[in-house]
Amino acid sequence: MQMPFCLWDRNKAPPTPENHVAIHGTVVVSCHFGLSVPGKTTTLRLFSGTQIDHNTGKGRLSLEFPLRGGKKTKHGAGKTSTMTYQVTFFVDPDFGTPGAVVVKNGLKNDQFFLRHVQLQLAEDRGLHFECNSWVYPSKKTNSDRVFFVNTSYLPDKTPEALRLLRDEELRSLRGTGRGERKDWESVYDYDIYNDLGNPDKEDHARPALGGNAILPYPRRDGVTETRKHVINLDFYIPPDERFSPTKLAEVLTLAVQAVTHFVVPETKALLHGDAVNSFKSVEQLRRDLYGKATPEKPQPPAVDGMVMDKLRDSVPSHKTYKQVNKMVKETPVSSESSDGCGADDLEAWRTDEEFAREMLAGLNPVVIKRLEVFPPVSSGGKTSTITTRHIHGRLEGLTVEKALVQNRLYILDHHDYLMPFLKRINTLGVCIYASRTLLFLKDDGTLKPLVIELSLPGDGVADDDISRIFLPATQGPDGHLWQLAKAHVSVNDSGYHQLISHWLFTHATVEPFIIATKRQLSAMHPIHKLLEPHFKDNMQINTLARSILLSAGGILERTMFPGKYAMEMSSAIYSQWRFTEQSLPNELIKRGMAYRDGGGGLSLHVADYPYAVDGLDVWRAIEGWVRGYCAHFYHSDAAVAGDRELQAWWDDVRHVGHGDRRGDAAACWLELDTVAHLADSLTTLIWIASALHAAVNFGQYGYAGFMPNRPTRCRRFVPMPGSPEMAQMEADPEKFFLDTVPDRFTTTLGLALIEVLSNHTSDELYLGQRATSAWTDDGEVLLLLDRFREELRRVEKKVTERNGDPRLKNRRGPAKVPYTLLFPDVGNVGGKEKGSPERHTQQRLHLILVYMRAWTASSCYTYYYYKFNDYILDMIYH
Ligand SMILES: [Fe+2]
Repeated sequence: MQMPFCLWDRNKAPPTPENHVAIHGTVVVSCHFGLSVPGKTTTLRLFSGTQIDHNTGKGRLSLEFPLRGGKKTKHGAGKTSTMTYQVTFFVDPDFGTPGAVVVKNGLKNDQFFLRHVQLQLAEDRGLHFECNSWVYPSKKTNSDRVFFVNTSYLPDKTPEALRLLRDEELRSLRGTGRGERKDWESVYDYDIYNDLGNPDKEDHARPALGGNAILPYPRRDGVTETRKHVINLDFYIPPDERFSPTKLAEVLTLAVQAVTHFVVPETKALLHGDAVNSFKSVEQLRRDLYGKATPEKPQPPAVDGMVMDKLRDSVPSHKTYKQVNKMVKETPVSSESSDGCGADDLEAWRTDEEFAREMLAGLNPVVIKRLEVFPPVSSGGKTSTITTRHIHGRLEGLTVEKALVQNRLYILDHHDYLMPFLKRINTLGVCIYASRTLLFLKDDGTLKPLVIELSLPGDGVADDDISRIFLPATQGPDGHLWQLAKAHVSVNDSGYHQLISHWLFTHATVEPFIIATKRQLSAMHPIHKLLEPHFKDNMQINTLARSILLSAGGILERTMFPGKYAMEMSSAIYSQWRFTEQSLPNELIKRGMAYRDGGGGLSLHVADYPYAVDGLDVWRAIEGWVRGYCAHFYHSDAAVAGDRELQAWWDDVRHVGHGDRRGDAAACWLELDTVAHLADSLTTLIWIASALHAAVNFGQYGYAGFMPNRPTRCRRFVPMPGSPEMAQMEADPEKFFLDTVPDRFTTTLGLALIEVLSNHTSDELYLGQRATSAWTDDGEVLLLLDRFREELRRVEKKVTERNGDPRLKNRRGPAKVPYTLLFPDVGNVGGKEKGSPERHTQQRLHLILVYMRAWTASSCYTYYYYKFNDYILDMIYH
């Protein structure tokens, strides 16, 4: 019998009908930025979690009950707000305990964002249903949404009444693998990277990556489609993977400010013919990009009219535009910002000490290796042209052999992977070498560059590669040549950083894990709950990155040296990728930077290696949390091996998502047959998605914001002795240097990009944090999480102490900038540094939990940036 729910005052709790029990519920939805709210036509039902309806095999289902009232609450200085509704369910006395709620959106067109539902049971017991999901109109979806109670269940421990619902949910999320996705459908499936090129546009054809042995790649989410436009924004993304309205407004504001600050003055100058191709001097670069307004360089307008006009045409809704307009006016563009590298010493970037230090504590501290054989030998067996003669006498009294034995020689090797691509890359208007940089570990614990070898491939005849050797010098032509050689090394390292360390090893390789988690692990599964916060926003970020940064003609091709061969090169490197080697201890051992000591612990060859020292502390904290969490749910190895959802998840990851690495499966993956293997694999995944990403992402403005420190491409080779170019260099070395590194527009484009890449938004979550403690009802798990946070606070203390220890010279270096990229900052709320400026300080770059935040900002920013300026870019580049 239908309950007469419409007969009473909707704002008051109705009287309890005879022979029924009332369950009072609270429903909370987001309502800021003009989001739609449920309205009177939205209803809820309950599934019993304990009493089965034998006709359906599922829990007993209540009747539909409507929402009542609706009270608005503002949060966080009014940036977000929620609407709270009441609902009263009447159920039979033997209905049992609810295990799921069913939500039916009765609106005609609009979806709403449901945060959670809480039920108050008669026996004074509460139940929480964490939702955080878009609910689309049932007229579109032809189904209602089901949300489970926040209790974690392994599959075989699931209450009988919820088992069918659990399986149905997963089947629905996997989809049928057919047909075009609609906006309101929530389906997770695998696809190859077939959307990067545009075969109809000249020079914009790109090979599909993934699904074949020649060009292997991790899978992405989406459906197979052909790229039709340079900027294709019509990708399907499951609703719950899309940006929140808060984030959207904040990153748009950042984008407007960055474009106004950096790019608009430069594009106007280009349009008016006022700008020269290169900076005239480093001083001019510093003044034009970071300095105060002067008569020659007037302060940029607070908000550029063209930018706002283009924004209005580009944003999804007028409400969003109005919000951004308001936020931009409340936060005027700063006309002054610091360059990234030189905090105290503006010339620090030129020093050999800083050049070497950044290999241990910079933006890309994951490449340097211990040299085990001298001279270095390539993977193809060719020996380097570096000889003992080049480094003899500069090893603090050691012979080369002794230096090797004492683990004092190191190498930054950008040789082997680059050589096969260099001929093609150098047809793109750039002048790129493959490089090897040898370094010596001094008695004071710092590294000293010994020699740089720059190589070009020959004509294909055996051993005809062309290599040049450069030795450290500070004065005269040799000093200028050494600076140029270091710039070429930095270009190699910048490209590898952005394309491999950042994009491939943190963004792209994680996406298959997300798809597999959504397809194979129920929202009730404890491992799903453990991983979920690390996955937020990833899919939309990667999708936008493919569309704007990585695509043919995209910003990465236009600013980084590999150009249109970038993704092909990353595919070649992925062919060697192994998940097991991504754990921090294994990765350090593989590079020869660490070893297992007699007691099974890990020791570092370079004791003052800030990335590794801080990273291992964070790693151990994550490991402790994950091991405790896994042991809580799995009481035996057999429980892991017998978890059908978990095994299906791992099969998906290994055989589909990373299916192109199947040929190396035994080395790539641990078998999920023990609790220890499960914990190891999850620790590695969380490490990649949080700390590793933070280490290679959030220092981008700090280290690369000052272009001469990390140029992204070279326009000239190092001059040959006796050549006209050598004469030019000797006549004006600074001009030659600035003619070598990126031009003005590429520099400002890159600078605006990483300005947003390095920023945090207000809804950041940090390692150890959760948006709400109601994500689980398990008190023991919450205690484990408390212990994890305590451990992270101990790590914070140690990082702070190390940064204050003058004996640890690699932590601050000549620039006097402390290494804080792996500072957990577990107490931070809102993404802002307490007590420090909000803009352009490395000190605010922290370890972030939801690892894609910066990519969220960057991709969203570049989307709108590109929309504003694509006609300018096309004019310049085509
Ligand atoms: Fe990132």
